Amino acid sequence: MAVRPIRIYGDPVLREKARPVEETTAALRRLAEDMVDTMIEAEGIGLAAPQVGETVRMYVVNLAAMRPELFLDRGGPSLEGDPDHLVLVNPRVVKQEGEQTGEEGCLSFPELYDKVTRPDVVRVEATDLDGRPLEIEGCGLLARVLIHEFDHLEGVLFIDHLSKFRFQFLRNRLKKLKADSQAD
Ligand code: NI
Repeated sequence: MAVRPIRIYGDPVLREKARPVEETTAALRRLAEDMVDTMIEAEGIGLAAPQVGETVRMYVVNLAAMRPELFLDRGGPSLEGDPDHLVLVNPRVVKQEGEQTGEEGCLSFPELYDKVTRPDVVRVEATDLDGRPLEIEGCGLLARVLIHEFDHLEGVLFIDHLSKFRFQFLRNRLKKLKADSQAD
């Protein structure tokens, strides 16, 4: 088990666009394992590679934290047998439908939460670490995490989805996070 430090808002790596995974190396497998360990340790429901400083297109989701009714569809060998965690390599969002507004947070923004509007249904296609296709479609919290983590691979953060008014409201707390992050 290896927990890696989580990069906090203000770290420029969170704004980079991640590059596609071209092959599964031993280092990539280790990264995926460490991301799962890091997510569990931080009690998160998802974690994207840039959040531990690696700008590759991969994220992990804590499926054990999702209620069964949030799963609308799933396919692929890595989703057989109800795994607790899922590793998605080179994910693509292939469907977004409806709308939901709810509290959202991010492990890169400790103790900061705000209401974010997201699609209510999200479908993602990806591969697993063995290059086998996987697909997952979810609603509610599962849809929210699938698209939130995808955003990280584009350098997009949840605060980018806030209204100007809310952003202004949180401005001082964001400034403080940024200052603390750059002081490290
Ligand atoms: Ni996040």
